[in-house]
Amino acid sequence: MFLRLVYVSNLSDDVSHENLDTIVDRSRARNERTGVTGMLALDGRRVLQILEGPPEAVQRLYEHIRNDTRHHEVVEIDRRIVDSRHFGSWGMVRRSMVDVVMLAMTL
Ligand SMILES: Cc1cc2nc3c(=O)[nH]c(=O)nc-3n(C[C@H](O)[C@H](O)[C@H](O)COP(=O)(O)O)c2cc1C
Repeated sequence: MFLRLVYVSNLSDDVSHENLDTIVDRSRARNERTGVTGMLALDGRRVLQILEGPPEAVQRLYEHIRNDTRHHEVVEIDRRIVDSRHFGSWGMVRRSMVDVVMLAMTL
């Protein structure tokens, strides 16, 4: 049983796409330790992130993410318990928003 949580946000003005790549790289390592998978999509400054993993791990991570000042207007758009991971083989990867829409059609 896994929790899949999806939120959107806006990157803060002082965060470049390169900064975000660093965040994603660090996240990948940390997520591997906590068993969290998912993806992060970017469209301009708009972020959409999908997190999935053990419910407590995802919830704890989301609390951190929500309080992170490098983005704002964090809005949870979906939270559901799922039987299997949809992004299991993706540690945490960055994708374009178009890719995410294509993937959402197969969910
Ligand atoms: C858009 C965005 C996405 C993030 N995604 C993750 C993530 O998937 N995993 C992660 O560990 N940290 C992620 N972070 C970083 C966390 O907010 C936080 O900095 C990190 O968990 C370390 O927390 P700490 O510095 O309070 O220990 C993200 C930050 C931003 C701005």
